[in-house]
Amino acid sequence: MRKKVIAGNWKMNMLPNEAIDYIQSFAPMVENAEAEVILCVPYTDLFYALLNTQGTNIKIGAQNMHFEETGAYTGEVSGKMLKVVGVEYVIIGHSERRQMFNETDETVNKKIKTAFENELKPIVCVGETLEEREAGKTVEKITTQTRLALEGLNASQVKNTIIAYEPIWAIGTGKTATSEDANNSIKEIRAEIKKIYGEDIANEVIIQYGGSVKSSNAKELFNTSDIDGGLVGGASLKPEEFSKIVKYNEN
Ligand code: 13P
Repeated sequence: MRKKVIAGNWKMNMLPNEAIDYIQSFAPMVENAEAEVILCVPYTDLFYALLNTQGTNIKIGAQNMHFEETGAYTGEVSGKMLKVVGVEYVIIGHSERRQMFNETDETVNKKIKTAFENELKPIVCVGETLEEREAGKTVEKITTQTRLALEGLNASQVKNTIIAYEPIWAIGTGKTATSEDANNSIKEIRAEIKKIYGEDIANEVIIQYGGSVKSSNAKELFNTSDIDGGLVGGASLKPEEFSKIVKYNEN
């Protein structure tokens, strides 16, 4: 049985004092949660978030990293830098980074490999645009992105990769994919992993859904056969709302 993994992606929101206040009220709300709880915070909040989640069940992730270890890459942060401060997860290839910061399938693949070299668990985002969806290209897009992201990884690395299926048209728009639709897309991603790595591995990979997840739709989405939790943007910015998503079955 796969565990549900529910991650908040704060994106470029929350100052350190806001992050501390958030965690202090959020931690008691989710302390008995069955799902794994992750907060992916801005770099400048990492230290405060790590300090304030000590002794809780909340794990901390970053939202990006560079694929090189060190060097002349002004403004970038390496996997090792994240690891040594205590970060456990890192989002890689979010559609906002692919669309606005020129991330490609190739850089995504390099970053995943570097994440594993530094014992970070990658949360890898894939998803189709509205045009691709309307042209009937959803499956082709998400299976290709998945295949290229995982290229060259060994079986145990694939097993430890979290994939987040985030249809771009559903991100920040209030338009959620139906649970049936999202579940079907995620089944296609799992089938692609099965083709390359076999059934046992495919059955173990955590595949989340992301795109306008809220407390009112989390229960339906997360109680499907293949959706193993969510990557939550806007609705993760309020502790109470996000705690309801984490404890989706209690709503
Ligand atoms: P929203 O939940 O705000 O739609 O964002 C989804 C997302 O991009 C999470 O990574």
